[in-house]
Amino acid sequence: MKLKKFKFGYPFFFICIFTFFVFLLLLANLTSTIFSQKTNSSTTKIEDYDLHVYKKIESKVQGFDRVEMLDIEKKFLNGVIRKYKPKKILEIGVSKGGSSAIILNAIEDMEDAKLYSVDISENCYRIPSKKVGFLVEEDFRHLQNKWELHTGGICANFIEKIGKDIDLCFIDTVHVTPGEMLDILVVLPFLKENAVIVLHDIGLHFPNARYKGNYYCDKHSNNQIFAYLKGKKFMPETKETGNDMFKDIFFNIGAVELDSNQKDSYFDYFFPLSFHWEYMPDITQLEVTKGLLKKHYEDKYIKMFEAAIEANRLLKMPVPTKKVKK
Ligand SMILES: C[S@@+](CC[C@H](N)C(=O)[O-])C[C@H]1O[C@@H](n2cnc3c(N)ncnc32)[C@H](O)[C@@H]1O
Repeated sequence: MKLKKFKFGYPFFFICIFTFFVFLLLLANLTSTIFSQKTNSSTTKIEDYDLHVYKKIESKVQGFDRVEMLDIEKKFLNGVIRKYKPKKILEIGVSKGGSSAIILNAIEDMEDAKLYSVDISENCYRIPSKKVGFLVEEDFRHLQNKWELHTGGICANFIEKIGKDIDLCFIDTVHVTPGEMLDILVVLPFLKENAVIVLHDIGLHFPNARYKGNYYCDKHSNNQIFAYLKGKKFMPETKETGNDMFKDIFFNIGAVELDSNQKDSYFDYFFPLSFHWEYMPDITQLEVTKGLLKKHYEDKYIKMFEAAIEANRLLKMPVPTKKVKK
C-alpha cells in the first residue's frame, strides 16, 4: 500500500507558530507562578510579603508629604494585609489618605474585602484646604469602591454603624495618652477572635524620630499599647542601617495577632488609663465613649474609666495654694 504524501502548506506552518507561542505563554505563566510562590516562603519577612502588590503603587505613595510613614512601614502594612487576607478592616487616623491607599491597593484583588476608615477631622490637618482622605479621591479613584470613610468624629461615634467581625484594625492617631488607649477599648468588642491590630508610631518617642530638631518624647502611647496587648507580636525584620541600635531594633510599626479570650485581659487594658493623660478629651467625646463602653464591659471597668477621668481632671487643675495664717 502506498502512503499518501502529506503536503506541508502555509496553514500548517501558521499552526506550528501559533502552538509555539501558546507554549511560550504557558511556560512564562508557570515560571511566574513558581516565582511568586518562592517569594512568599515560610521565611519571607512580613515587609517583603507580596511586595509586588505594593510595588504597583509605590511611586504614588513616595514621600512623607503623601503618606506619613517610612518606606519599610508601608511595606509592612501591605505585607500584614496580604498575609492575613482580612475581609473587614478598620483604619483609625486617615490624614491625607496615604495609608488608606496602601490598604485599598492591598485588598484590590480580595473578593468581599472592605476598608472602613475613621478620622476625627473633616479637613486634613496637614493641608486644611483639603478634605481628609483626598489622596484616594485624587489618585486612587479605581480603589474607592471598597472604601467607607467616616470623618468628623471619634471611633466611638461610628463603630456601631461599622459593626462587628473586624479582622484587622490599623491605628495611627494622636500617639499621646489617652488617645489610642481609648480607641482600643472601643474597638475590642467589635473584633473577630484572633484579629490583628497594627499600630503605627510605636517608636515615635525615640531619638531617631526627631523631626525638624524636635523630639517627640511624650508620644509613647502606642508603644505602651503594643507592650500590653496580649497576642503574638511582630515588627519589621529588615536591618536598615546595620549599625543603628534604634532603627534596627525598635521599629516604629508593629502588629499583634490577638490571643483568644481577650476578655481575660480586660483589667490589663483598663488599668493603663490610670497613667497620666497628656490631654483631656472633650466632654462629648468622653460621654460617647462611656456610653459605648457601658454596653460591652462590666461595671468594675467602667468605674476604672470614670476614676481615671476624675484623677486626670484633678491633675489638670491648678495646684491649690495654701492660705498663710497671719
Ligand atoms: C498621623 S495622622 C494619620 C496618618 C495616616 N495614617 C498616614 O499614614 O497617611 C493622624 C490622623 O489622626 C486623626 N486623629 C487624631 N485624633 C483622632 C481620634 N481620636 N480619632 C480619630 N482620628 C484622630 C488626625 O485628624 C489625623 O488625620
